[in-house]
Amino acid sequence: MAATALVLCGQASRNTARADAPRKLEMGAEARIDALLSQMTLEEKIGQLTQQFGGRHQDANPDVAGGVREDLLGAIRAGRIGSVLGAHGAEYTNAIQRAAVEESRLRIPLILGNDVIHGYRTVFPIPLGEAASWDCDLVERTARMAAVEARAAGTHWTFAPMVDITRDPRWGRIAEGSGEDPFLGSAMAAARVRGFQGTSIAAPDAVLACVKHYVAYGGAESGRDYNTVDCSEQRLRELYLPPFHAAVRAGCGSLMSAFNDLNGVPASANRFTLDRILRQEWGFDGFVVSDWNSIGELVQHGYAADAKDAAEKALLAGVDMDMSSFAYREHLSELVEQGSVPESAIDRSVRRVLRAKFALGLFDNPYADPKVEAKVTLCDAHRQLARESAARSMVLLKNEGGLLPLKKDVGSLAVIGPLADNQRDPLGTWAGIGRWEDVVTVLAGIQAAVAEGTRVQHVPGCEIDAEIDGGIDAAVEAARQAEVAVLVIGESESMSGEARCRTTLDLPAAQERLLQAVHATGKPVVVVLLNGRPLSIRWAAEHVPAILEAWHPGVECGHAVADVLFGNVNPGGKLPVTFPRAVGQVPICYNQKNTGRPPSDDRFTSKYLDLPTTPLFPFGHGLSYTTFEFRNLTITPGEIGPAGAVEVSVEVVNTGDRSGDEVVQLYVRDPVARVTRPVRELKGFRRISLKPGEMQRVTFALGPEHLGFYDEHMEYVVEPGAFHIWVGPGSEGGLEGAFIVSDPGAAQPRP
Ligand code: BGC
Repeated sequence: MAATALVLCGQASRNTARADAPRKLEMGAEARIDALLSQMTLEEKIGQLTQQFGGRHQDANPDVAGGVREDLLGAIRAGRIGSVLGAHGAEYTNAIQRAAVEESRLRIPLILGNDVIHGYRTVFPIPLGEAASWDCDLVERTARMAAVEARAAGTHWTFAPMVDITRDPRWGRIAEGSGEDPFLGSAMAAARVRGFQGTSIAAPDAVLACVKHYVAYGGAESGRDYNTVDCSEQRLRELYLPPFHAAVRAGCGSLMSAFNDLNGVPASANRFTLDRILRQEWGFDGFVVSDWNSIGELVQHGYAADAKDAAEKALLAGVDMDMSSFAYREHLSELVEQGSVPESAIDRSVRRVLRAKFALGLFDNPYADPKVEAKVTLCDAHRQLARESAARSMVLLKNEGGLLPLKKDVGSLAVIGPLADNQRDPLGTWAGIGRWEDVVTVLAGIQAAVAEGTRVQHVPGCEIDAEIDGGIDAAVEAARQAEVAVLVIGESESMSGEARCRTTLDLPAAQERLLQAVHATGKPVVVVLLNGRPLSIRWAAEHVPAILEAWHPGVECGHAVADVLFGNVNPGGKLPVTFPRAVGQVPICYNQKNTGRPPSDDRFTSKYLDLPTTPLFPFGHGLSYTTFEFRNLTITPGEIGPAGAVEVSVEVVNTGDRSGDEVVQLYVRDPVARVTRPVRELKGFRRISLKPGEMQRVTFALGPEHLGFYDEHMEYVVEPGAFHIWVGPGSEGGLEGAFIVSDPGAAQPRP
């Protein structure tokens, strides 16, 4: 309200790398690093900043243990490689590590990195799916188990969590992140870092986390991967940066610089984001690796004249390690000799890399133990968690007439669709070393769940993106003979992920035709969606009584889907991202600005001629087999200073006849501010479980970190005036309240 505001949360609060970050060095490691640095040649130093792909290769030398390529081993022995990516398995990684630890001059161990994004061999739901659980504890546990398997197989470092916020489901990499919201995304980012790194990064089952892709990669224009991002600093700070900051606060030991151009300076040479924000404001003391060849690509961006120029720009901006472009290996020594790059800059980066190696305990324990690997890989406990996490990630989008849950002793079921008996696609994108033969299909899950007398007939009906001769007729016939038709449709794993963008969000045409034909039989239809992004399933949403969003759920797909379809698990997931009615609404999100002409019946307002502006399913939406009532909202006190906090409290009651989960969501709006604010912003959530008739009071604290924004000078401020809040089961509706932030004169800055 007032024209003046108190500046809060300046340098001190931004510089919040956690003091108890789990990567503290053992005593004496700094001295050992000094000693190593003093012995290293410039070439060996640059080797520590070089990462090379080291997966098995066709021309692998069969005489070498594990079939490692001879040229790779030679470079490792010569000290020209500090890190290898793409190497898997205890025996194979040990063969590589041996070349460094036993055959190189200084015996510095390699740090072996891989993309362990949502599981290693035990594949959990894609991250977008896990975010739909709104369950940080669950997400921490799956990351922990992924770390246990990966480390046992020789991986020390995961290129995860991927925390890119996006409002554009055309972008295939939406599957790898936590959706559209920076608050939810931050909570998920921190949970994953905690899970990967465990309580101590020195533990033999921890992996170093690498938060990526820094930064604003999810803002790619047109939803086209690798495309340019041009955004205000305010959007950068409020939308894209928070999950990175949350990961850094949680002690994340490394960070990956992105491919994209950001406001004219590519992210992998961007001093503003890599140095000013990351190092100076946040105090990040881990190391930065480039994305794959993103240093080399500075040339294509038109930001560097050649690879040598690119190496200079990236290193001086703060990228410590070069993933695969070899610009550092080829050019840094010449750049040092000619005085363009000071050797001290190289030393600083080498120190950061060596610190991580010491912190991980690699100098003392560089090898993986094949016995541990055999014991933990895809073990029962991991499969059990995969089933639990998949079921908790599912979102019940629609359930007209209580069609779900199905009775286990239903007389007959037709299980239809190209994804019903499909073992490959449920793994989703970046599925580690997951194998399709490990996957339980939806059909198998249903067959295992139904009562003995139930007849289950399966017909694929079509392929994922093509008709099958007679496929639809067979599916229609199967539906006619069944009491209920379950259609398992959506996207293949190769339709989302890196470089997998789409210009439509519709179901592939063959599947849409199949769905409409089966629906026309008049039999009750349940749609189970397996997909990596929001889909514009407008026809289905209007006509089909029950829709379950299962994402790409991982190895335990079929068991988890059956758990939910038959009511062993009551679905409690909520959308972490808006589902549009059509691709033309994209970018679409709940936390938009109001505009000067919010949509109304008036012609000259912000809307479309052919569709409403509202989404098909909003952010935060998700149903349950039971019902909940929210009541007795209280906000205390009713007035605070800008540095103060209010307590928001609500009672939630299970008013139905089954136990179930509700995600209690708290949204805030600052209705008048000197920089306009979104119509709503998520600032708290909690997933709770209630028995029938049970009531729980849920309380949130709302303080300056929730109420402020970055003003036109990029100062974080809490402005006096009225604040509106909503507490409810989604981003629309909810119980409404307000409180006042009083005049700044009365307030004290946060410590
Ligand atoms: C991706 C990264 C990944 C890297 C290594 C790149 O293409 O953008 O997310 O970590 O490859 O596999």
